[in-house]
Amino acid sequence: MVSAVGEASGKILLIGEHAVVYGHPAIAMPVRGVTARAEVEFTREAGVVVEAPDLGERAGRGDGSSVRIGPFVRLAESALALFGEQAQGVRIRLHSTIPIGCGMGSGAAVAVALLRGICSAFNRRLSADQIAELSMESEREFHGTPSGVDSAVIARDEPVYFVKGKAPQPITVGPCAFRFVIADTGVESPTIRVVQEVSAARERNRAKYDAIFWEVGSMASVAREIIRGGGPPELGVCMNHSHALLRQLGVSSPELDRLIVAALEKGALGAKLSGAGRGGVMIALVGDDADEERLAQELRNAGARSVFTTVLSGN
Ligand code: PMV
Repeated sequence: MVSAVGEASGKILLIGEHAVVYGHPAIAMPVRGVTARAEVEFTREAGVVVEAPDLGERAGRGDGSSVRIGPFVRLAESALALFGEQAQGVRIRLHSTIPIGCGMGSGAAVAVALLRGICSAFNRRLSADQIAELSMESEREFHGTPSGVDSAVIARDEPVYFVKGKAPQPITVGPCAFRFVIADTGVESPTIRVVQEVSAARERNRAKYDAIFWEVGSMASVAREIIRGGGPPELGVCMNHSHALLRQLGVSSPELDRLIVAALEKGALGAKLSGAGRGGVMIALVGDDADEERLAQELRNAGARSVFTTVLSGN
């Protein structure tokens, strides 16, 4: 019998990836078409068991070897300890439609869904910021030194302007709506590896890398102002310039560049890789008169494995 269910959306980084690890701002948005779900059930036997039937995985206490779901066992144990409920046995079944390892926040979304499910099962309340903070425990196991942007946007379930270590700020959207198509290259790219490689490259040439990070971060600040009072063509310029900077960091790939060129040729106002890069997803801004379904089809024709859409608009 399922006692409680927790859910969380996926996410996409609009602008600011990599620079955000070094203290610069980034903008991220939820993607509501994909979700993680955690079903929490009380069991007679004490201890936490986590099952991910879609991955064919199951782990309990002491199964630290399960790379994909071991961190969620430990996260659930921490949540039970926080509530003083360690004596209660729980089984947590995880499901997710968020592609794994492609920059759409699957790990953070599963963590947030799991924590929401546990809160609901024990009738406890945690704020979005507390959930984000707690979910960093499994994020650190997966990603090493995550900036926290994934946890922040997913726990708040609203677009955020994020600076590491500071309270995330909501994004104000002015009169224009911004419509996006997201396309997955189908190439899995572990964030931890790309972030470590960028860090090693920065150690060899700090002046170059810090200047690029600075410029990527300033694109995020400019984008925030455009979203507040400007229009899609200006945001497109910011996105294109950000992609050029990310290429200088060495985190694009032929598959990403192919989808980005295809999007721009088919009328997107801007396009860039999103997330850690070297694979994973790209994001394209749809023009005022353009049709996102048509652009989505063009991206499938150009080799995208799957395509999603999201909109940034005011009330
Ligand atoms: O988890 P991803 O692939 O969306 O990457 C997160 C973005 C980075 O800035 C590269 C890493 C981070 O921790 O913010």
